[in-house]
Amino acid sequence: MLKKIGVVGGGNIGGVLIQEITRRKLAREVALMDILPPDFAAGKCLDISEGTPIIGVDITLTGGKDYDVLAGADLIINTAGVPRKKRPDGTIPTREELLKTNLAITSKVAAGIMENAPEAIVISIANPLDAIVYTLHKKMNPSKNRLFGMAGVLDSARYRLFVARAAGVSVDNVEALVLGGHGDTMVPVRSCCRIAGMSVEKFIAADELEKIETRTRKAGAEVVGMLGTGSAFVSPAWAALEMAGAVAYDRKKVMPVCARLEGEYGVDGLFVGVPGVLGAGGLEKVIEVDLTASEKEALDRSVEAVRSTCAEVDAMLG
Ligand code: APR
Repeated sequence: MLKKIGVVGGGNIGGVLIQEITRRKLAREVALMDILPPDFAAGKCLDISEGTPIIGVDITLTGGKDYDVLAGADLIINTAGVPRKKRPDGTIPTREELLKTNLAITSKVAAGIMENAPEAIVISIANPLDAIVYTLHKKMNPSKNRLFGMAGVLDSARYRLFVARAAGVSVDNVEALVLGGHGDTMVPVRSCCRIAGMSVEKFIAADELEKIETRTRKAGAEVVGMLGTGSAFVSPAWAALEMAGAVAYDRKKVMPVCARLEGEYGVDGLFVGVPGVLGAGGLEKVIEVDLTASEKEALDRSVEAVRSTCAEVDAMLG
């Protein structure tokens, strides 16, 4: 259990986060920061606090409009930013189209964290994921273990669900890794996908797997198209909680993490989804997984897509 977890942005994802941090007892104190009037973050916290006697949890929740509520947090989860939303004409924006708006928000978030919790471990969820984590790094310059993004746990969960359904087995039996950027170029790594330790190809034909991988890459847009009001929020929150839980309980859990690469996979200075070990020290290790030639090519293409969005960040920040 941590001393304090701070959540920035108390909308759909942030709302699930503070609720679940409390229920799962990940920290003794929870702080929520959101700019919404009149006192949105404090109201969300009061609502959950008033439920704690019912679930028998002694955790203090504090919300506010100022970043100072984050003071003393050991872990911060950043969800501040607009989500994707289906347009009136039925089209769905890419995550990259959120960049301009969310970059401005992220600059403020970075300053708020630096001022109030400069030593905290930070997990970021706002989109476009890889470019927003890159922006936080540019502004905050923390060590590699203390800042990373959540995308791969969610993308892999989607891949696992689709595989489990097609194979007719429990989601518990399916292990999967989705690597690369959190966009349409993400790489579901078939050679790492296992059902109870056996290759997925033993259970599902290649053409069916192809369809599952395509659906995985577009799974976020599928939900955006169906909701109409915004983007997926329960599964992204649960994915971030999986990471936060590994930190809070020093579990040394291996999972896909959007990590700053410093030479691994031949990449330097970009945040890309790769397997890592999460524990009390944050991102304690990046793992270089063996890929087939075509998976390596797909990962290289995905890295180039991340590089081009980060070049836009560099241009916008000047
Ligand atoms: N500081 C703190 N909170 C902010 C700031 C800021 N500078 N700017 C905006 N917010 C808040 C909004 O007031 C809103 O309550 O961030 C919250 C975002 O919540 P939602 O709009 O419900 O979005 P959500 O679905 O939670 O997604 C958040 O995560 O997955 C990504 O694409 C998604 O970028 C989006 C982010």
